[in-house]
Amino acid sequence: MPKEMKKALFICLGNICRSPIAEGVFQKTVNDMGMGDKWEIDSAAIGGWHVGNPPDWRALDTMKKHNVPYNNCARQITSEDFNHYDYIFGMDESNMRDLKKRAPQGSKAKLLLFGDFDPQGDRIIRDPYYMIVPLGTLKQGLRYLV
Ligand code: 4NP
Repeated sequence: MPKEMKKALFICLGNICRSPIAEGVFQKTVNDMGMGDKWEIDSAAIGGWHVGNPPDWRALDTMKKHNVPYNNCARQITSEDFNHYDYIFGMDESNMRDLKKRAPQGSKAKLLLFGDFDPQGDRIIRDPYYMIVPLGTLKQGLRYLV
């Protein structure tokens, strides 16, 4: 691995909706910019309910529609992640609270709210899992891609 490689980890509650899309889009973006070899990118969950599962079909469908390749499965964040990654992005305030609680003292990763990097959008990328209206889920997914 080249020395100057930067490492980013995207986090959400289940690692089957928001963070896999963020991971896939970020990977595609750096690949398209010719910087794929400069970034190590992954995503993970706060909770362990979906470990080993592929993303929710709606997330996969959205990525497919936007030509975002994705072939990863859910995993849960570990304490090693906080020293391996340079940046760990949470999707909402609950993620940020959990990340701060779990970060070992003095660990290297910067804990950042992903929405802070989108000045035109909502800062909070809400949990889509229990949304009743599917259109809301779709909009939520598409928000990452525009
Ligand atoms: P995600 O959505 O955090 O965007 O992957 C969720 C998926 C599953 C659950 C919660 C949120 N769950 O409670 O199982």
